[in-house]
Amino acid sequence: MRVIDENTITDAAIEQMASTPNPRLRQIMEAAVRHLHAFAREVDLTPDEWIEGIKFLTATGQMCSAYRQEFILLSDTMGLSSLINSLHDRRATEAGTKSSLLGPFYRQDSPTFELGESIATKAHGGPEIGIYGRVTDGAGKGVPHASIEIWQPDEDGDYDLQKHDPKEMDLRGRFFTDAEGRFYLRTIRPLGYMIPMDGPVGDMIRAQKRHGYRPAHIHFLIGAPGYREVVTALYIAGDEHIESDTVFGVTESLVAHVQDRDEASPFNGMPVIRYDFQLGAVQGAGSGRVGADPSQILKKTEAAAD
Ligand SMILES: [Fe+2]
Repeated sequence: MRVIDENTITDAAIEQMASTPNPRLRQIMEAAVRHLHAFAREVDLTPDEWIEGIKFLTATGQMCSAYRQEFILLSDTMGLSSLINSLHDRRATEAGTKSSLLGPFYRQDSPTFELGESIATKAHGGPEIGIYGRVTDGAGKGVPHASIEIWQPDEDGDYDLQKHDPKEMDLRGRFFTDAEGRFYLRTIRPLGYMIPMDGPVGDMIRAQKRHGYRPAHIHFLIGAPGYREVVTALYIAGDEHIESDTVFGVTESLVAHVQDRDEASPFNGMPVIRYDFQLGAVQGAGSGRVGADPSQILKKTEAAAD
């Protein structure tokens, strides 16, 4: 009979899981067990601490709904989502715009707008800004009819989901580039915000004495047939939390400046951001989205439970 102790248990667990037919699932679960066991040994995890961890993860799951994804927030605040993005970018064969977090506030099926229109469908007190630029391929050639989904918080730092009836969408929408790959749209200047702090992730952030803020930003999901979809965000230069984003989404190439004067802007006299997005060539299957519409994640888990 095999002796099971703190050193042999890891091999015992991995050996039993070796029957997994799917090689990728086997690889992932083996590594998960090895690292999880090594972590417990490193910190000499006690039964009380283990049950605290179980309670924390249980509460994280219980906080999830069709409009809230606490697990994505946990992944974001631990830097895991940012790491997954970097690994995804590293796999690209052709450089494109860097990825950033999809975050917990993306919703599919947002309304489609004409170029030049504003995604602000409710009354807002914040200043209006324009955003324009091009979507290009790796060689700098415009990509016609590329889809640009955009979503952002309002002038108070709140997303529509947090403020109105969550069924009513505001400050989110979809545009298509013109024949030369150009896009131009209007919105309001977003404010940075504190991540949702009323759940277990908020408890963790407070326990760690972190500020919990994200710098002001605007999310983008851009794609076109034959190109690699890019999930990214532009971060507004000058925000006080630009160097200390709670979810590690900011990187230098994604910092955007709101210009008061821009001769080339299609919006006369309006502060504007100019930014060109680059799409790499498509490769392989699979999504580059580190996140999802919370309602879709819930649907999948409900279907799995049936
Ligand atoms: Fe966000």
